[in-house]
Amino acid sequence: MRKSSDQGNGPGIIRTAIITLSDKGAKGEREDESGQVIREMVSGIGAEVRHYEILPDEHDRIVAALKRLADSGAIDLVLTTGGTGVAPRDVTPEATREVIDRELPGMSEAMRAESLKKTPHAMLSRSVAGMRKQTLIVNLPGSPRAVRENLAVILPALVHAIEKIKGDPSECGASS
Ligand code: MTE
Repeated sequence: MRKSSDQGNGPGIIRTAIITLSDKGAKGEREDESGQVIREMVSGIGAEVRHYEILPDEHDRIVAALKRLADSGAIDLVLTTGGTGVAPRDVTPEATREVIDRELPGMSEAMRAESLKKTPHAMLSRSVAGMRKQTLIVNLPGSPRAVRENLAVILPALVHAIEKIKGDPSECGASS
């Protein structure tokens, strides 16, 4: 990715937060491999992980964390992992919907469409993507494999998305 010094309006580094939603992870009963997969994958697009936390699947805590990060003005991208499915405690999509100003359905649609080519269980993810102020929030499913497969789908569009969210006025070229 281009550096802020050689582009006019781009984001430079992508200031990234990772939130892992897992009751077991939050109690220290499960290692967070999925958060690690995200960390490795986003390093390839010039992201710098500025915040990382593991939270239990609790709606109000997820809402509070997402608001705090987006409203700080210090985070461009929040990637959550886990809690997108249909189990009773899967509440990440509802919490995300509560905080976003605008939804970005194409990202979650693309992830589900590509994932369906790999597993029919892809249709069980209710992941949401959207913006709060100038922060893009994207839900990823919980397993390391699902994170790898879903994040790979949106990775090529993330830099351009964040440039646009932050107000880059340049024309969208066919190659960008
Ligand atoms: N998408 C991909 N690409 N690969 C996967 O293995 N797992 C699915 C789905 N999406 C999966 C996937 C499964 S099994 C579930 S239950 C849902 O994501 C929701 O996962 P979550 O509840 O961990 O968020």
